[in-house]
Amino acid sequence: MSRPLHIGLLGAMPEEIGCDLSHLHKLEIEEHGDLTIHKGLWQDSVQLTLAWSGWGKVSAARTATRLLAATPGIDLLLFSGVAGAADPTLEQWDVLLADAVVQHDMDARPLFPRFTLPPLNRDQLKPQAAWFQWARTALDQAHAAGELQGFRQPGSGLIATGDRFIGDPDVLDELRGALPGLKAVEMEGAAVAQVAEQEGIPWLVLRVISDGADDAAAASFSSFIKDYEQRAWQLTEALLKRQDSAPRP
Ligand code: ADE
Repeated sequence: MSRPLHIGLLGAMPEEIGCDLSHLHKLEIEEHGDLTIHKGLWQDSVQLTLAWSGWGKVSAARTATRLLAATPGIDLLLFSGVAGAADPTLEQWDVLLADAVVQHDMDARPLFPRFTLPPLNRDQLKPQAAWFQWARTALDQAHAAGELQGFRQPGSGLIATGDRFIGDPDVLDELRGALPGLKAVEMEGAAVAQVAEQEGIPWLVLRVISDGADDAAAASFSSFIKDYEQRAWQLTEALLKRQDSAPRP
């Protein structure tokens, strides 16, 4: 039998992955300061290394870096959680796999164009095509098979990350104007993607819409996250179940 696929799974809050880890066995815990890293096996076919980062880009980047350093051999870094909709056609429970991510608060003008990440000299980061296709197909198949109870049709598009919870239509409009095709906003994904790119590790950002990044965003988010916690694991499992077709190195 081939070695288990090794996925590094990150979420900002326990509710964004589901804090019940009883589906994992051979569970081990490592503490690094205030960060806990959980390591376990899912059905002997997937090694999962999992941590909840806390909110924001620094926390996410710190956790991604620590996870990669603490566990050699990670095949894929996956950030999973919720996001505010920037595309008005999206609704709560829509599933969105990033085909590109951008840090919307990166602005080193006039030295670099707005959004450009100086160390990479790029603004948008795109996941590796083979991993993106695998996850997109897995999510579509799981949805068609009725495995994603309560979730809406999976889709994909541009996700913007920044250290700001967006609950203001004017702020959102400005970002939509500056980032054509923008689908959603959140606070961690592109930071993890940057770390993964710089470390040479494939990455994916998977989000479920919790709110409209508008005046009602805080209330929508708070009520959504309680329901989401009960269902979040379904999304992870949809991918793990299809590990056979993952693009292993
Ligand atoms: N995550 C979920 N909703 C969000 C919002 N409105 N802004 C930023 N991050 C979010």
